[in-house]
Amino acid sequence: MVHYKVSAPGKIILHGEHSVVYGKDALVSAIGLRTNLEIKETDSEVIFIDFPSLKFQLEIPLIKVNEFLVNSDGTIENVKDFVENQFKRSNETENNTLVALFYVLKKAFGNEKVSKAFDLSVKTDLRIGGGSGSSAAFGVSIATGFLLLTGKMKENTLDHEMISNLAFESERVIHLNPSGVDNTICTYGGLLKFAKGKGFSKLTIPKQLNILIVDTGVSRSTAKLVSQVRDLHEGFPILFDNIFESMNILVQEAIKKYSEFNGDITDIEKLFEINSGLLTTIGVSHPSLEEIYKISRKNNFSSKLTGAGGGGYAIVILPSDYKNKENFENLISELNEAGFETTETVIGGG
Ligand code: MEV
Repeated sequence: MVHYKVSAPGKIILHGEHSVVYGKDALVSAIGLRTNLEIKETDSEVIFIDFPSLKFQLEIPLIKVNEFLVNSDGTIENVKDFVENQFKRSNETENNTLVALFYVLKKAFGNEKVSKAFDLSVKTDLRIGGGSGSSAAFGVSIATGFLLLTGKMKENTLDHEMISNLAFESERVIHLNPSGVDNTICTYGGLLKFAKGKGFSKLTIPKQLNILIVDTGVSRSTAKLVSQVRDLHEGFPILFDNIFESMNILVQEAIKKYSEFNGDITDIEKLFEINSGLLTTIGVSHPSLEEIYKISRKNNFSSKLTGAGGGGYAIVILPSDYKNKENFENLISELNEAGFETTETVIGGG
């Protein structure tokens, strides 16, 4: 009987969030924080789901799962009421996470009868709705687990394209109109240049580049922020097209600077500052992100939001010798005192 452990990394968008929705390039990196899934086939007639990170457990008969119907337009019927009754969460992203699970499960079985029961546990280091790819790492993990369960994919010949495509379906349920950047980086890992509908290319950085991830603790909905930007774009199309093109030019400059990185972060810091300003201009900043920006500047560091904004995570670029620097200690203690959790990581890791 099938028994697998699967793991997928979270991600940060270094540059290109939001403009990537409009076909522009983004520069993205996997991070060391991960989502881990365990799936064990059972001979029961009941599926058991355990999400310790969401403090949630559910038993659901196979017969009930087979009442859920996947439509050709990408929607799933009979699930929403069931999920809302069982899950009882006010947070839409969390509710949609469970809807996505059933959607991906049905899709993995080719929309045929789900014929195998299983115990499933999903644990994550990532904060749900925080902007570090929690939903995409979840999508990649369940897509991989369910494809292995159905036997459509074998452990020693993982089909990354198949995984990423199925994880994208999960992202669509959770975020409505995603660019596909998150499921791509959480499937392939490393450091990627990505453009919607055009695919991705792998990049390398010659020297280790460190980054600090700062959690505002503020949850937000990617779907809402993307639609807020869409409304502004509709109101001021020429202005916003030009801002998105500026973001695209910034990504090309960033690719050059990261690819030639020799330990000097001066130019990358400048790009962080400019990118931060552009993201504030399109209205996706938040008082908590502005506070992180101010604390960073005060201590001579540069930060920007990462992902959809509106809260979630910020990133601070760090010099190679940051551990010996007094201002780094001050930065961490001031961020922590203000209530922000910090995690050090390396770009291209995960
Ligand atoms: C979310 O991580 C990144 C956004 O650009 C949305 C997307 O690309 O789907 C804000």
